[in-house]
Amino acid sequence: MATDWNPAQYQRFATQRAQPFWDLVELIHRGAIERAVDLGCGTGDLTVSAAERLGIGHMTGIDSSPAMLEQAEQHGRVHVAFEYGDIARWTSDGDHDLVLANAALQWVPDHQAVLERWIAALAPEGQLAVQVPANHDHPSHLASSHVSHQEPFASAFDGEPPPDPTAVNVLAPEQYATLLHELGVREPHVRLQVYPHLFERSADVVEWTKGTSLTRFFRRLPAELHDPFVDAYREELLDRIGRVEPYFYAFKRILIWGRVSRTDAR
Ligand SMILES: C[S@@+](CC[C@H](N)C(=O)[O-])C[C@H]1O[C@@H](n2cnc3c(N)ncnc32)[C@H](O)[C@@H]1O
Repeated sequence: MATDWNPAQYQRFATQRAQPFWDLVELIHRGAIERAVDLGCGTGDLTVSAAERLGIGHMTGIDSSPAMLEQAEQHGRVHVAFEYGDIARWTSDGDHDLVLANAALQWVPDHQAVLERWIAALAPEGQLAVQVPANHDHPSHLASSHVSHQEPFASAFDGEPPPDPTAVNVLAPEQYATLLHELGVREPHVRLQVYPHLFERSADVVEWTKGTSLTRFFRRLPAELHDPFVDAYREELLDRIGRVEPYFYAFKRILIWGRVSRTDAR
């Protein structure tokens, strides 16, 4: 798909991608959650499952990908709705009991301003639960950035390949903790967690990144360069990590939770 996400490719590793989501949900304190939002909801299946598990009164999933939203709308329920929106700008008027965002915040810049807007949307005692990948220093990510600067791809990007948003946007865990504190979040819980993915062979990493980090290149490259890009990436990656069977893919993520106190909420 040239201009959008590919839900089928993303869902190829649905089980592995769901684990951090459920770890994040575990951080959310149980109790009455009347109004919630799932920012960057993707295909929406996890949005619906979380709404059911947490007994949420009304949950809205927001995404900017038409392909993802088309999938999500198939999961619509009485208590769950999906709508188009830009999570970078999203806010609300202190009326949400939960702002949830799994594997989406890394796509947008200026986390200080974005988190300030998200926290402003929380009602008194409202909770923020966010998970971001932090694997930008792994060869799986460095190899694609390297290939994007090689020909013929560099020219196709007019000499300016899209940078890895995780490398550019994602802060260190301690910076998120400090930021949350400064934004009035009580007892912020921030942790770095390594998710172990055991693949049959190291080349399988390509199937994983095709569903996420490579999508930024596909959006900018003409369709006829998609396969050559993936082939060049596979070569570069295997040069870096070797042709290994099985392959242990260690994937770092940051889990963030916090609650605003009654006086801090707007
Ligand atoms: C890696 S997927 C995660 C989807 C879902 N949260 C999950 O855990 O399966 C990231 C999602 O964020 C969405 N996204 C990225 N930037 C966005 C933006 N600025 N506004 C709204 N959605 C955005 C993408 O369209 C995509 O569906």
